[in-house]
This record gives sequence, structure tokens and C-alpha cells, in this order.
Amino acid sequence: MAAHHVYEATCTAPVNIAVVKYWGKRSTSLILPTNSSLSVTLSQDHLRSLTTARCMVDGQGTDRLWLNGEEEEIKAGGRTARCLEEMRAMRQEVEAKNASLPKLSSYPVHIASENNFPTAAGLASSASGLSALIATLSTLYDLPSNGVSTSSLSRIARQGSGSACRSMFGGYVAWEMGAREDGSDSVAVEVAPKEHWPDMHALILVVSDAKKGTPSTAGMQRTVATSALLQHRIEHVVPARMERMSAAIQARDFDAFAKETMADSNQFHAVCLDTEPPIFYMNDVSRAIIQLVTELNRVSLEKEGRLVAAYTYDAGPNAVLYVQEKDVKSVLEVVLRYFPQSTTSFPDPFQTQADPSTALPEGFNARVIPVHSEGSVSRIIHTQVGDGPRVLGQEESLLGEDGMPKQLKR
Ligand code: DP6
Repeated sequence: MAAHHVYEATCTAPVNIAVVKYWGKRSTSLILPTNSSLSVTLSQDHLRSLTTARCMVDGQGTDRLWLNGEEEEIKAGGRTARCLEEMRAMRQEVEAKNASLPKLSSYPVHIASENNFPTAAGLASSASGLSALIATLSTLYDLPSNGVSTSSLSRIARQGSGSACRSMFGGYVAWEMGAREDGSDSVAVEVAPKEHWPDMHALILVVSDAKKGTPSTAGMQRTVATSALLQHRIEHVVPARMERMSAAIQARDFDAFAKETMADSNQFHAVCLDTEPPIFYMNDVSRAIIQLVTELNRVSLEKEGRLVAAYTYDAGPNAVLYVQEKDVKSVLEVVLRYFPQSTTSFPDPFQTQADPSTALPEGFNARVIPVHSEGSVSRIIHTQVGDGPRVLGQEESLLGEDGMPKQLKR
């Protein structure tokens, strides 16, 4: 008996860390932002979401979703349901134009997704997760070879989670806020591929945080409703900063890139403080890292007339430092001295051999912050700028022959 064709796709998608932050929606249902934003896509070798989607050809059932082995309800009218609906509509259009294509849009789908990093680390998983979902469905539905662009796919990823639209591209990515009410022009575009500026590295300093902070979706709406500073940011700061940031990337001008990145992170956390009631995402350790980076930059500016690191913080206490390859070792040495790590908390995948007992840079104020106890920074992830979603082979599938997850959590 001939087994019938299996319609299945498996893809991975990356995390991205904004250097011009998205914070605020003008439409909560369509996820339309109050300002444009810009991010760097990080390598999937270290951080990624992996998703398999399959059309259940014999299935009379409904769409089903498993996240890290646990089934999640797909709520009617929710973000995932919305993404599925939009992707099916795109497939339907393709099918309508070509009657010989299988009617994949008519089948229920099973979707399984996993992250290769602990969600508990407080690392944003929604961007990679939702972009992996869209990349996988678009591969399953064969949309790219039927003329659907990555930007139009990003329009759908955006409706899953705003920042997810930027994970549809590798390298340096802008999310143009758009002007239309239907959101058709609120899409991600590539500013530059990773090859344009490949020596951009990222150090993620995972700062332990017992209590979970305000979720970004709720937090940003509170800021929109109460912060006058946000209005100033939207009107007078972000438009010009988007221009300067794009220009800095085009010119591979690290000083300009770092300056804008740190200023934007600071302003994002300032609008959080300007919210009623105020929102705090950074903690004492986060602030100590800012002081350390500031001192490193002060010394380097004095000696060499340039900056060596840029910090940025999202809706949590973790720091992300952007550092050029040539400076990674010396920056790490200082970070490791003040935030000691074990070999498991910092596996050093790039073999930097950074030695925290190396002398501090000349003129560096050793007392800028105290040496912290082990665990203040629970983990350091060293990664770099990376590519966009990848299509994997069937051997990587998360679904078994029966269309159920291979790894089920009970
Ligand atoms: C601080 O994309 O998670 O990381 O659209 O409500 O899903 P929703 O929010 P989300 O917000 C990300 C906020 C941020 C800044 C950024 O990534 O630009």
C-alpha cells in the first residue's frame, strides 16, 4: 500500500535584540506600533526556536499546538489562531490561482515548537517562537516559491508578537511602523545582512530575577495610557534616531551605533519609570553593569578615542552587550572579574580564553562597582549577529509518524 504524501515542514528562527526599542501600540488588535524600531538578529547556533508543522490529511480534528512538549490551547481569536488564519488565507489565494496544487489550507495542522534555551532565563522567546511558527507554515504552504515576500510574512508574524516580525530577517532589521489603518505597511525590512557587519558580537548577561516583572504587552499599554515622555519619544526622538542608527550600520560606525543603542535603552527605561504606576525592569545588578560599561568606554575614549561596548535592556534585568569581535576578550575579562562565572555558567564557545586575573586597563577605576558574588550574573551567553529563519530536513522533525510530538511532557 502506498503511503500518501506527508505535508510537513520544520524551521528554526532567531532571537533579535532591539537597539531602537518598540514600546507602545496604536492598535492592540492588529499589533501596530507607536514608533518604528530596529534590531540585530542573533545567531541561531546559540539561541533559536525550532518548529514543526504538519497538515493532518486524515484528520477530522482541529489545529493543535505543543510548546516544549506541553499542549497549549489555541484560543479562538487569540494571537496564534490569528496567525494560522492569516497563513491559511495566503495559502488559499495561492491555491485559487493554481488548481493543481493540493488543498493544504483545508486540513487541520499539528504544530510542535521548542526553544534551545531555558525560558526561565527570562530571555524573550516570543519573537523567535512566533517567527518560527510563521516561517514553518510558510514553508509548509510553499508560499515563498509562490511569490510571497519575507516582508509580507513579517506582517503576519507581527500579529503574533510585535517584535517577532523583525526575526523574519537576519542581520540588521527595521520594523517600519507604517501609516495605514489595516497595518499592511507595518512590516520588517532588512537594513543590512549579517555579512555587511559580521564582527558584531553579543554578550548576554543573564541577571537572576526571582520575581517575574510586568509582561511587555500589558506594560506598554500602561505607558501609552499614562506617559507624556512616551509622546515626546515618539514624536521627537525615534524618527531621527532611526535615521542615525541605519546610517551607523551602513557605515559600520560602532561609536555611533553604541551611542544610539545606549541612549535608546536608557530612554525606554525612562518611559517605564514615567508610567503610572511606574514599571521597573532593571535591578541593582543591571545598573552595576551599566556603570561598568560606562567606565570601560570612558577609559577607551580617553586612550583610543572610541567606544568598546554598548549595553541594552529589554523588559527584564538581563543585559545585552554589543561588542566588536576585536574587543570581546578585553570586555569579557573585565565582566568576568566583577561577575565571576563557573565553566558551566560561561562555557566560552568562541574560545576567547578571557582571563579575569588580567590587569585592568590603565586608568580604569577599579572601585567603579564592587566585585559581585558568583550567581549575580547567573550565566553569560556569547553569540553574534546571525541569519534569518532556516528550513531544516525531515530528520529534525518534532512530530512522529502519527503526527504527535516525539517528546511529550507529562
Ligand atoms: C522591550 O514584541 O514582546 O523587547 O507585541 O505585545 O507581543 P507584543 O510585545 P513584544 O515587546 C517587545 C518589547 C521590547 C522591545 C523590542 O523588542 O523592541
